[in-house]
Amino acid sequence: MTKVSVVLVGCGCPLRSMGWYHAMQLLDAGRIQNASLTYVVEPWYFAPAAEGTPGHSDFHEWAKKTKESHGVEFFHTVEEVPTAPAADDGSVRLAIISARTADNPKLLDQCLKLGCKAIYLEKPGAPTVSELEAMKSRADEAGVKVFMGFNKNVSSYLTFSRELVNKTAEKCDVTFLHNNNYANTEAELAECFERNAEGMLKNMAIHELAILVTYYGVTVDTIDKVEADKEFSSCKTLKGPASGKDFTDFDKLKFKIVTKSGVEVNVAADRCGGDDSVGIVNKADSGEELARFTMPDEATVANTDALKAKYGDAMPYFFAQDPDYLKLKQLVVQNCIDGTPAEGVADIETAVETLKVAEYLTPILTKQLQ
Ligand SMILES: NC(=O)c1ccc[n+]([C@@H]2O[C@H](COP(=O)([O-])OP(=O)(O)OC[C@H]3O[C@@H](n4cnc5c(N)ncnc54)[C@H](O)[C@@H]3O)[C@@H](O)[C@H]2O)c1
Repeated sequence: MTKVSVVLVGCGCPLRSMGWYHAMQLLDAGRIQNASLTYVVEPWYFAPAAEGTPGHSDFHEWAKKTKESHGVEFFHTVEEVPTAPAADDGSVRLAIISARTADNPKLLDQCLKLGCKAIYLEKPGAPTVSELEAMKSRADEAGVKVFMGFNKNVSSYLTFSRELVNKTAEKCDVTFLHNNNYANTEAELAECFERNAEGMLKNMAIHELAILVTYYGVTVDTIDKVEADKEFSSCKTLKGPASGKDFTDFDKLKFKIVTKSGVEVNVAADRCGGDDSVGIVNKADSGEELARFTMPDEATVANTDALKAKYGDAMPYFFAQDPDYLKLKQLVVQNCIDGTPAEGVADIETAVETLKVAEYLTPILTKQLQ
């Protein structure tokens, strides 16, 4: 049986970083079938400049323990990782890149030289469309498939929302709402705007845009109309606490997209709306709400304490999205093993379209709401 040997690039800080949570799921026996974590590359915490910075000692303690308990080898750079083993040892290699977005173009290039069968690249993939397009063509040239960490694409709330719309005889209006739990104060929002300076669409609503591209045929070329919901939305200019510079962004945003073939879908995002994501299905004519499906679902909420006991007091969203992260990795691993299509998993082409839609919508919506 072919096994998948994983190289994780960008582990980050235990309890706080996405890469660390990928590692924990891979190390937890039986959670991801036929895959094991072999190598971890950590570009920051092995650098001399990182000494004494937040997370440094936590990372090194965790790395020591993980090396001893699971034989995982740790490196500072991708170039130090041994190149892929000969195919006859029965394993294929998958790289998971969960680093800072700006570092991804360089890291992907380095991973392409490792003999990977596939790469799982965290969203949004790259800071700009042109960088992501260049990454896609280099991966294509190398014959390496790149899958994206858009976990909501495989989330149960999306499946339930789509199933309900499909089986309802009347026309439905569907909204994908994404909440964050920042306090609704100028100070918190100013810090959030500055730290996520790429803006709400590229940083937060990018998950919903990936859903639109994957399942609703939305691309820059297919969009007919974009209508902001002025009552729901709010756009602010706030002074970043670190730089003192002005940052203009949305703290709440809702809009409808209508495609040239008549598909209608709504996206909403609220920086101060809570911890969940919701699929809301209404009757299109009367507006009557038929159902709302939430991520995390009930089973996931019920499992949170058990996960906390195993993994520690980590960022709450890891537990809320635990089944989706697991499912996404399992689909990618299976595809590496026998080519089974990774149903619903966005690839880098979808990510390019998604980022294009985000870049296209930002000035249109800002203009409609200022
Ligand atoms: N799918 C999801 O739900 C989800 C959730 C969170 C993050 N992500 C994605 O995962 C990726 C990693 O996000 P994250 O929140 O774990 O980021 P992070 O900043 O915590 O860690 C990423 C990397 O940044 C580096 N780093 C940490 N501190 C640094 C410092 N002070 N200076 C320079 N480098 C430093 C480390 O090498 C680390 O591996 C991003 O692409 C993000 O968009 C996805």
